[in-house]
Amino acid sequence: MAEFDILMLPGDGIGPEVTAEGVRALEAIGARFGHDFRTSEELVGGACIDAHGSAILPETIEAAERADAVLWGAVGGPKWDDPRASVRPEQGLLALRSSLGLWANLRPVTVDPALIDSSTLKPEVLRGVDILVIRELTSGIYFGRPQERRTIDGRRAAVDSMTYNEDEIARVAHLGFQLARGRRGRVTSVDKANILETSRLWREVVEEVRPEYPDVELEHVLVDAAAMHLIRRPADFDVVITSNLFGDILTDEASMLAGSLGMLPSASLGEVREDGRGRGLYEPIHGSAPDIAGQGVANPLAMFLCTALLLRHSCGLEAEAQALEAAVAAAIGDGLRTADIAGDGEAALGTREMAEAVLERLAG
Ligand code: IPM
Ligand code: MG
Repeated sequence: MAEFDILMLPGDGIGPEVTAEGVRALEAIGARFGHDFRTSEELVGGACIDAHGSAILPETIEAAERADAVLWGAVGGPKWDDPRASVRPEQGLLALRSSLGLWANLRPVTVDPALIDSSTLKPEVLRGVDILVIRELTSGIYFGRPQERRTIDGRRAAVDSMTYNEDEIARVAHLGFQLARGRRGRVTSVDKANILETSRLWREVVEEVRPEYPDVELEHVLVDAAAMHLIRRPADFDVVITSNLFGDILTDEASMLAGSLGMLPSASLGEVREDGRGRGLYEPIHGSAPDIAGQGVANPLAMFLCTALLLRHSCGLEAEAQALEAAVAAAIGDGLRTADIAGDGEAALGTREMAEAVLERLAG
């Protein structure tokens, strides 16, 4: 029997509702496959600000360092939205990504054929969509300094800094090429090299890495054009590598291909050990959705798919990951829907009911 320590960080809004289902999924996997998942839970985000005055406690970061993996819900909400506040819920997430060195954010975007009608795009555009976005996660404009308010010529002004060094770019490029080899062998590197110096360095370094992977096809696409092509011809993309900010924006856009933000998981990984496993942080790409928080209607499927990624990447449990993914697909295939993916006139299940439906299929 394998044992794993999983730190649960539910956060705010719908975070706690969906994270509770993540715990149930781990219990169900443990029961079916004979593993022991020991879960513990800590406050992060707005909930942690309210309790302790900061978005994450140092001891929570230490607990994350000791754990095999972290399952994250979502953070933020109107209560903590004041742009002048010095403490913000999102700081907890950035601190954790940075402290754990989780530089690779994997965001798979696939369209379940049964959900094609939930998308606002035409079915023929969506057929065959299978994209893996690798977003650089611990550098770029998210972490560049200075980041501050200034007074320039007597006016309020503000500065953000975008910095990348060659190593930060090269490791993303290597990962992109390596993962493309197990897929359709195509990498699209997204930048803004016609304007930004960081993007010109990005392109240069990706080109330097490229000769090591002669079997993989590479194209460079400017981010504005990439935003357009994602909607016009999404099925042409295989692996996309890009910087922190561009990846943030493009993956929200890409989630609409899948019908709902509520469907997409993400894995944030750092160094991978020799056994192929590594500590990771797993979070749905949806946010805290304050408008529906506490109502029991949030879609738990992104959290289930996150749990599957956790099993795969941090626990080395591929069969277990596939079983959970298959249970999610089976529930969707059987026509079960939460409100965000229900079509006109289709009945919508609540969070618990949808989760139950998946777990029944997992057990069965
Ligand atoms: C995401 C989110 C975060 C980000 C926020 C909550 C800090 O939008 O994971 O995509 O911008 O990285
Ligand atoms: Mg985002």
